[in-house]
Amino acid sequence: MDFAASRRAGPEDALAVADVLIRSRRAAVGAVPPAVHSDAEVREWISAVVIPEREVWLMEDADGRPLAVLVLDDGWVDQLYVDPAVTGRGLGSRLIDLAKSRRPAGLQLWTFASNTGAQRFYLRHGFSVAETTDGSGNEEKAPDIRFVWPAP
Ligand SMILES: CC(C)(COP(=O)(O)OP(=O)(O)OC[C@H]1O[C@@H](n2cnc3c(N)ncnc32)[C@H](O)[C@@H]1OP(=O)(O)O)[C@@H](O)C(=O)NCCC(=O)NCCS
Repeated sequence: MDFAASRRAGPEDALAVADVLIRSRRAAVGAVPPAVHSDAEVREWISAVVIPEREVWLMEDADGRPLAVLVLDDGWVDQLYVDPAVTGRGLGSRLIDLAKSRRPAGLQLWTFASNTGAQRFYLRHGFSVAETTDGSGNEEKAPDIRFVWPAP
């Protein structure tokens, strides 16, 4: 998708950012557990916590429609979500390359053990498995995997 451009998201983008997360997460249910928070709680968290305190990147089409979101929190990829209508077209790859360029010293992230598509994606991008859990430490109580880049 050549027309998609990424830019830093500000307070005025909170609803667009939340919208991408909510739609992508909902479409991914099966590969990921159902959301434990309501849509309203997600919108409030994005606007009160994520945008003010973390580094948020938004990818949009030529008409300004939000397509994909990357959230960096120190050395963590905190969120990476692509609109379900445009997955598999390279947007996630461009955002993970952006994450690497913003954090050349290294990155970590969590993904659900059930999310095999995302795991293939991260392995292809040079991440490796650092830890697997039984899920008792996350909100969804679902087994997850910590990936690191670069590989140790
Ligand atoms: C995982 C994700 C960020 C990848 O971004 P993308 O733009 O779709 O990926 P790219 O086009 O750059 O790369 C394609 C690869 O992404 C993965 N992928 C593609 N669509 C996917 C989907 N709907 N869900 C999970 N992974 C997917 C696959 O590994 C695919 O490779 P494949 O063709 O060998 O199956 C994106 O698909 C997504 O947002 N998925 C749903 C939410 C999610 O799982 N987020 C990650 C949470 S840790």
